[in-house]
Amino acid sequence: MKKIIIALDGPAGSGKSTSAKIASEKLGYIYIDTGAMYRAVTYSWLQMELPIEEKYAEEVIAKTTIELKITENGQGTFVNGQDVSKEIRTPEVTKAVSPVSAMGYVREKMVEQQREMGKGGGVIMDGRDIGTVVFPNAELKIFFVADPEIRAIRRQKELIAKGENVTVEEIKAQIIARDKYDSEREISPLKQADDAIMIDNTQMSLDEQSNKIVELAKELIF
Ligand code: CDP
Ligand code: CDP
Repeated sequence: MKKIIIALDGPAGSGKSTSAKIASEKLGYIYIDTGAMYRAVTYSWLQMELPIEEKYAEEVIAKTTIELKITENGQGTFVNGQDVSKEIRTPEVTKAVSPVSAMGYVREKMVEQQREMGKGGGVIMDGRDIGTVVFPNAELKIFFVADPEIRAIRRQKELIAKGENVTVEEIKAQIIARDKYDSEREISPLKQADDAIMIDNTQMSLDEQSNKIVELAKELIF
């Protein structure tokens, strides 16, 4: 069985991380959530109470050790040994993550770590620039898209489950703004790689979406 690199990119709420998790279990692959890494840096930055300006990036990154580890609650994100899986999903972090991710120094350091984590293959990595920048030679690249309304409805369900009351309209406006910021930044913008397969999952269930990844991967692995 070949150990390939599977690159999943796409806008916020397009089902990348949930479908990647399921597909990685079915394939016996490691799942790497690069969004969680950018969120971890952002979390650390806010904890240090420094302004979100690139001149502080080196200091923040030097003081931030990020680990992605499996815990009893599933995949966990750790900063300096502390489990921050919940903290990195707060509205404060979500609001600040795009400006932090647009910084050249931050991207350089995160991409370095991601290449190291994925170099042996047998990984599914999801983010915005995996197929274009992190692993331009990945054997399988998928670019997921879905209607913003459905993405907002999906996110609202998650937030309601966490006890947060937000309207679909508010979430939709936030994800459209974040996608715009991520797509228009100068360095490694959110963009479909020329050789990526685009899949619109607006009408797809999570099972269908994850099965699609497994199906495409199996054509290359066996
Ligand atoms: O899960 P959600 O779509 O909300 O976002 P995420 O995948 O956790 O990513 C959070 C943010 O990190 C994105 O909005 C991007 O600004 C940034 N990001 C990035 O720039 N490059 C990546 N490879 C992954 C995430
Ligand atoms: O990682 P990304 O931001 O692309 O999206 P996600 O966090 O994997 O998915 C956002 C939400 O949509 C999750 O609650 C998924 O369970 C849900 N989802 C869905 O209902 N149907 C799909 N086909 C894909 C995702």
